[in-house]
Amino acid sequence: MLRQQDVGHRIVVRRIVGVREGRPLFSDALGELVELSETHLTLATAKGNLRVPVAQVHRAKRVPPTRRPTAASVVALERAADEAWPAPTRSRLGEWLLRSAEGWTGRANSALPIGDPDRPLPAAVDAVERWYAEQGQPAIINTPLPLAAPVGAELDARGWTTRPPTLVQTAPLPLPSVAAPEKGDTSGAAATPDGRLDATPADHGPAGDVHRLGDAVVELATAPTEEWLAIAAGRKGGLPDAARHVLTAVDQVRFAHVYADDTLVAIGRGTVTGQGRWLGLSLIEVLPAARRQGLARRVIDALAEWGASAGATHVFLQVEQRNTAAVALYRRLGFTTHHTYLTRVAPY
Ligand SMILES: CC(C)(COP(=O)(O)OP(=O)(O)OC[C@H]1O[C@@H](n2cnc3c(N)ncnc32)[C@H](O)[C@@H]1OP(=O)(O)O)[C@@H](O)C(=O)NCCC(=O)NCCS
Repeated sequence: MLRQQDVGHRIVVRRIVGVREGRPLFSDALGELVELSETHLTLATAKGNLRVPVAQVHRAKRVPPTRRPTAASVVALERAADEAWPAPTRSRLGEWLLRSAEGWTGRANSALPIGDPDRPLPAAVDAVERWYAEQGQPAIINTPLPLAAPVGAELDARGWTTRPPTLVQTAPLPLPSVAAPEKGDTSGAAATPDGRLDATPADHGPAGDVHRLGDAVVELATAPTEEWLAIAAGRKGGLPDAARHVLTAVDQVRFAHVYADDTLVAIGRGTVTGQGRWLGLSLIEVLPAARRQGLARRVIDALAEWGASAGATHVFLQVEQRNTAAVALYRRLGFTTHHTYLTRVAPY
């Protein structure tokens, strides 16, 4: 049977789904085990999460991963992602990171337990709890899987709760739809005819009906406009001072703006971190009235072109597994899941 150590691993479950003529009917499910309690287990399958009562489980066992990322690649990517979303208040516990940003976003207000915390695991979790208590915040730990599965097991034992899984997805650059950047076209501030280069936010693209966005221009600026920040605030629930730091305190960063009729209808943010290897995408957002017209794709294309021109060879993003629209968009653009992480919250 399964144990807490199996959380984060690929599992096949044979469950009893009925009885016919006195014989049990079985159904098999394959996916990553994201939660295991005394009564239920939750599998992240290709079709979404599947919650199975333990009483229905006939057999369950680990199966080899299809493409398991190396521990080193998970660590490198998590560190690049941390650089791309820098919390203003930071501390270290051995190699673990402790981050705080006035509560703005789970990522910037959670510990990242990768590497050696320089003390036994229970003492490390105690220290995380103390540090967040000093910040006046709930203790949160992000556990990349399967790397930090032992940490997850310790937190389960302490009654920590788990938020829905986040997928860390990657793709090589250039993206399939993006032509290789032309030499010399990345340094100026002027937009090219297709508008995919840096432009000042004041230099809006052609005014147009929000329902006629075929010629929408993506402007990449080195700082966000107030309208951009307002959309980000709407998505993330406010915008304390720490949020501006998280968004802007990266050397290589661009803020995508798409206007229609002088209204900002789509935004996105790109960073290049991880020794220049990783373009990170965040805050890809399209106003509801302007969705399904290719705007998110254009924003991503523009940021991908900028990232490649800045030397990045790969792109990553983090998306909640339950965000079906975004997951579909990224799948269409060739992203695959590198690893997942679970956000764990202390019970007090
Ligand atoms: C996800 C989001 C950015 C997509 O923006 P969009 O401009 O509507 O996306 P696009 O028009 O560029 O979509 C390109 C392709 O992605 C896929 N896609 C996008 N939205 C989809 C949806 N709701 N359902 C299924 N597939 C979808 C489709 O394949 C689509 O191509 P198609 O319209 O020809 O079928 C938008 O829904 C949004 O702002 N959501 C809220 C914010 C958010 O979740 N951001 C992502 C955080 S990680």
